[in-house]
Amino acid sequence: MKEKITAMDLALKTSLIYPSFEIYGGKSGFYEFGDLGVKLKKKIEGFWREFFIKRNNFFEIEGVCITPRIVLEASGHVEEFTDPIVECKKCKKKYRADKLGEEKGYVFKGDVKELEEFLKNIRCECGGEFSEVKLTNLMFKTEIGYEGEEGFLRPETAQNIFTSFKRFYQQTKKLPLAIGQIGKSFRNEISPRNVLSRLREFTQAEIEVFFDPHENEFPLWEGVKEKKFKIKKEGKIRVVNGEEFLEIVDNKILAFLLAEEWEFYKEIGLDERRMWFRVLRDDETPHYSKANVDLEVETSIGIIEIAGNAYRGDYDLRRHQEFSKESLEVIGKEGKIIPHVVELSMGIERSIFALLEHTLSYKDWGTFKFPPKIAPIEVSVFPLVKKEEIIEESLKLKRKLEEKYYVYYRETGSIGKRYAKSDEMGVPYAITIDYQSLNDGKATIRYRDDGKQERVSIDKIPHLINENIKRGKTKIK
Ligand code: GLY
Repeated sequence: MKEKITAMDLALKTSLIYPSFEIYGGKSGFYEFGDLGVKLKKKIEGFWREFFIKRNNFFEIEGVCITPRIVLEASGHVEEFTDPIVECKKCKKKYRADKLGEEKGYVFKGDVKELEEFLKNIRCECGGEFSEVKLTNLMFKTEIGYEGEEGFLRPETAQNIFTSFKRFYQQTKKLPLAIGQIGKSFRNEISPRNVLSRLREFTQAEIEVFFDPHENEFPLWEGVKEKKFKIKKEGKIRVVNGEEFLEIVDNKILAFLLAEEWEFYKEIGLDERRMWFRVLRDDETPHYSKANVDLEVETSIGIIEIAGNAYRGDYDLRRHQEFSKESLEVIGKEGKIIPHVVELSMGIERSIFALLEHTLSYKDWGTFKFPPKIAPIEVSVFPLVKKEEIIEESLKLKRKLEEKYYVYYRETGSIGKRYAKSDEMGVPYAITIDYQSLNDGKATIRYRDDGKQERVSIDKIPHLINENIKRGKTKIK
């Protein structure tokens, strides 16, 4: 077997992702999606839309990224959205102070002075001492208009949803009310380290469900009672069912959404054995949160959070009501209320990173075993030799398949090399037309997942592929 390639190396090799502004040496915290990456990302986002929005009849919006200061004052981000940093007095390198402490066994619980004391006993890799700990805001500042009114690039997509709540509630006059959004968010991270796991510009897929806290019934929850998930609490991972899960998260809507989230990740190809929900300690939760449940996954760079889910209470609407002076109250079961909110917040790039890691497989070369429905390219077509009739037949099939799918087509190179390239891009099916095809109307279909081949009638190929993608099968028969 050849030397194993890492998921990131294979993604770079196939230009699925690559550093932004590469010819200038790149810029830490910024990555581009290449051709394969865009296809993969759009399919995952499309599946998210089908799975959460369409299936559950939720609303979806697309908000702007530039946000006036007042909105983020209301949300608490101007004041609270900070990270503690220290600088080495000698080499001037800046560090996330809490992460530095963590690496040395210290658990940061919000006490900056205590963290500072702890870091006095630690030295930078150059041997220098650290400065005092400073809190730095993570938002990118910008100016709006000629007069230069202060604004920020949004640090989460959620705020557009909160500021749109009133409009949608006026249409439906009903709770629960769910609104989702996929879009870019921006965080000026101090030390973005691990490629896709901590970016400065990234995509969130968020859903906010507004509900009446006095209403305990939520019929959709019944559908997930029997479902099983893994949960990590106090360092231990155990399997729980929907009922036990509800006892832990104490909210039927959140329990339902989390069950859906688990299913979503399984469907796009994450390995259930390498993921779990973790209930955060109070000192780990953001300023707006009453309770947080992260979805964590194991990767080659350690455990990462790919979704942060929260019970935000009435924090956001209450604050927006106060700052905008618009009433955001509604009539609930027991009179006037400000709705409470539960939130699913998935990081798309982190999810893709986890997916690349979990679907990576080796045989003679590396491949991503993407489920067919999200594979960036669904099918390859190869004429075995460069003969006119064979090329003609191959192009005919290619054009037919292109009506629905992305097709990888190559006429040159050994067939083995073309299969390897097709596998590296995670294409589930490769079809080869040869001399015999001209006589018997059959082609060879080769499967990415086991390299096995069989002959199938060319006419039937589009239909067979269609059926298999629908059923998530990587094999035709
Ligand atoms: N909306 C939650 C977050 O961005 O972390």
